[in-house]
Amino acid sequence: MNLEGKIYYHGEIVEGAIEIEDGKIRRVKKSLPFAFRVRGIILPGALDIHVHFREPGFTHKEDFYTGSMSAAFGGVTFVMDMPNNSPKILTAQDFVEKLRLVAPKANVDFSLYFMLSPLSPGLEEINGAFKYYMGETTAVEGYVVEEYPKNSFISVHAELNECIRKESRDLRDHDKSRPESCEAMAVRTLLGKGKFHIAHVSGVDTVDMCKIGGFTCEVTPHHLFLHRDMPLGTWGKVNPPLRAKWMSEKLWEELLQGRIDIVASDHAPHTMEEKEDEFNIAPAGIPEVETYVPIFLYLVKQGKISMARAVEVLMERPGELLRVPKGKIEAGYDADLIVVDFKEVRKIRSRDLHYKCGWTPYENFYGVFPHRVYLRGEEIIEDYEFVGERLGKFVKISPAKQEEEEKEHMQD
Ligand code: NCD
Ligand code: ZN
Repeated sequence: MNLEGKIYYHGEIVEGAIEIEDGKIRRVKKSLPFAFRVRGIILPGALDIHVHFREPGFTHKEDFYTGSMSAAFGGVTFVMDMPNNSPKILTAQDFVEKLRLVAPKANVDFSLYFMLSPLSPGLEEINGAFKYYMGETTAVEGYVVEEYPKNSFISVHAELNECIRKESRDLRDHDKSRPESCEAMAVRTLLGKGKFHIAHVSGVDTVDMCKIGGFTCEVTPHHLFLHRDMPLGTWGKVNPPLRAKWMSEKLWEELLQGRIDIVASDHAPHTMEEKEDEFNIAPAGIPEVETYVPIFLYLVKQGKISMARAVEVLMERPGELLRVPKGKIEAGYDADLIVVDFKEVRKIRSRDLHYKCGWTPYENFYGVFPHRVYLRGEEIIEDYEFVGERLGKFVKISPAKQEEEEKEHMQD
């Protein structure tokens, strides 16, 4: 199959055609015979390396089918799912069981994290991706780990139990109960211990600490677009907490300047009933896998971020960090593509989204949603409608193997 139109290619929007064979991009040319012409601009699909699709154990909040469908509608064609399930994903058996359960429900490509624990070394043979919960949060107490799996991608939830207060009464108090200094301190304890990826950084001191350690880091849409003084109540309760407005503005600057590597959603849905509880009891977490790429694309239209930087932080860099052949329109990459028309701006409404939980804190925000989505060359969204059920595949993360391959190439 060949697609033609305006393509984001090597940092520019060019008129051209993409040849797709066996789910991969074979080449990009000025023109190709029998190409299907699409309206708008063709971009790579986004990679969200931080989602909680809640399966197994919490499928009343979300499941792999609804989560991955929401991802597709939001232009996300690859997700990495977190292991704070019930049971937690600690062993090879837990992992295999989860994979068996979720694979038939996947509407986009995916990979799965193990939960880092003293049991972890050796598991990297199965999948080289771990989530390190240094302290407590939803459904986890945190682990003390001294030995890390080798050559793996380790995403860190950096909050320490010793600087967390477990009670809070409102968003400002939640911010105080898990202060930014706690996050920076947690990252400091990792200096010199290996290579880590710091999830959902919520303060600039944490970003500084990441730079000192040579770590990569991500920021969430909620730490950029929401803040603790908005009238959100429990809907804005999340770990690490929403900070002051000035901090969200600083994080935006850090993202634009390249000091923060990527954006990942931390899509962490809870039901409306759970969120309607009193502040101290309501669980922490915000759904957002369907809205963050459209919001970013709207900000591109508004001139708040360049197209090049948006594509880098949503698509290219996440693919590079995980070393998967996704996130770029280039020969040899998977043909995961989204097509957007910047003239078609939509107001975000909960009722139009596909989450099981049925709510979003981004009500009335503007977004540019993809009208077509392709997963390895198969159309899964056409004219804003879902047409490609359960085509998602598991992607193994194996940074070690690839590093060896790179060395071999250098010797050639
Ligand atoms: C996450 C969840 O609900 O699973 N909640 C959150 O506030 N981010 C857990 C986590 O990553 O902390
Ligand atoms: Zn987390």
